[in-house]
Amino acid sequence: MVKLTDNEFLEFVDLMHMNYGIDLSKKRVLIEGRLSNLIERKGMNNFSQYLDNIKKNNKEEITTLINKLTTNYTYFYREENHFKYLKEVIFPYEEKNNRTKTLNIWSAGCSSGEEPYTLAMLINDYFKFNASNWNVQIFATDISENVLSKAREGIYTEESIAKLPEPYKKRYFEKTIDSKYQVLPEIKKHVTFKVFNLMDPMTAKNKYDVIFCRNVMIYFNAETKMNIVNKFYDATKPQGYLMIGHAETIQRNQSKFTYISPAIYKKE
Ligand SMILES: C[S@@+](CC[C@H](N)C(=O)[O-])C[C@H]1O[C@@H](n2cnc3c(N)ncnc32)[C@H](O)[C@@H]1O
Repeated sequence: MVKLTDNEFLEFVDLMHMNYGIDLSKKRVLIEGRLSNLIERKGMNNFSQYLDNIKKNNKEEITTLINKLTTNYTYFYREENHFKYLKEVIFPYEEKNNRTKTLNIWSAGCSSGEEPYTLAMLINDYFKFNASNWNVQIFATDISENVLSKAREGIYTEESIAKLPEPYKKRYFEKTIDSKYQVLPEIKKHVTFKVFNLMDPMTAKNKYDVIFCRNVMIYFNAETKMNIVNKFYDATKPQGYLMIGHAETIQRNQSKFTYISPAIYKKE
């Protein structure tokens, strides 16, 4: 096993924090455990060689690294409180007040697509994509190209859709020959997937009615998280919302968002 020296560890923590906002200061064992095999397979002898390689900014190399160090765990209809709130509060409000009949939603840190597809299904259920004149765009981004290619493919296991209400399972998937579930084109066409690192500047050309950034900022330290939350604020329409994971919090005095209920924040 390739060992991580104290200096290499500090350099690693710095590099990941500066470039990706990922806080690994307490993850020494995880870094060593998840990367030493990879380093050996590359024929390298130590972490310093690997770090030099990363610093060359090879996109593929960086994606592999981020995939190894973060978790992409997700599933359909995860944390259903948010979906309940959409159906009971946000959609009725939009239906009544949104004159342009345009809805822009952003799933930031969408992983393999379960979250944005859940949103597309929910919105279709409420606003009826084909039978109404609502224009709905769901923008879904992640730092990892790997998970995005799975998302674009849109094929999932039974386990991954287990929490979805039964009618959604029936209405929005086609069974594949190997007993998997393929998201229907009518849902897929409303979701646009794109690579985006949340540390990068957000050119808020489009403003969003609702931003979902759930179970992503857990990797970030407090400062990075506040910077990103502030950028989300600028990218949200007035009366729009930010949804975060239920295990996460935003310090009330450090953000302009108003706390509504656990994991739900609003731009008043
Ligand atoms: C645990 S998944 C969350 C998926 C989904 N939002 C959910 O709650 O089920 C976290 C995702 O955040 C992505 N991520 C981590 N750091 C990121 C960054 N700096 N920019 C964009 N995405 C990032 C990871 O690649 C991963 O797919």
